[in-house]
Amino acid sequence: MKVSIGADHGGFRLKNELKEFIASLGHEVKDFGPDSADSVDYPDYALPVCESVLSGEADRGILICGTGIGMTIAANKVPGIRCALVHDSFSAKATREHNDSNVLAMGERVVGPGLAQDIVALWLETAFSQGERHAKRVGKIKALEDKYALHP
Ligand code: RB5
Repeated sequence: MKVSIGADHGGFRLKNELKEFIASLGHEVKDFGPDSADSVDYPDYALPVCESVLSGEADRGILICGTGIGMTIAANKVPGIRCALVHDSFSAKATREHNDSNVLAMGERVVGPGLAQDIVALWLETAFSQGERHAKRVGKIKALEDKYALHP
């Protein structure tokens, strides 16, 4: 798969570590920055990663900040993005099966590097459940976007 990754200063180190890990799993990784640990604003890095997923340039996106929360809030403002904030293995698998999440967010100040790798591996390898009920619910999220997203 093609995987986009981005961070802010709070997630800079984990982003770089995960980049290597994701490549070692055989995926193609595109790094949307930042290139240093200088202070930056997480929405500026969430958007290009989300746009790369929407355009099809990437199959999935991964966003890291200090808590993962700012990245999650920003990403979920982008219609078509279903960003899951995940800090445990169970949720990594469940959000792919149930929510068809296309962006994963984590907090470098929350999760250790070993668990972060497990989460990423599970999240990348898990398919969306074929169950009709999950597709119906994701369809209802799309309906919310259609109702409230005024600008494409
Ligand atoms: C940066 O200090 C921090 O606020 C940011 O990385 C993130 O945790 C925001 O949600």
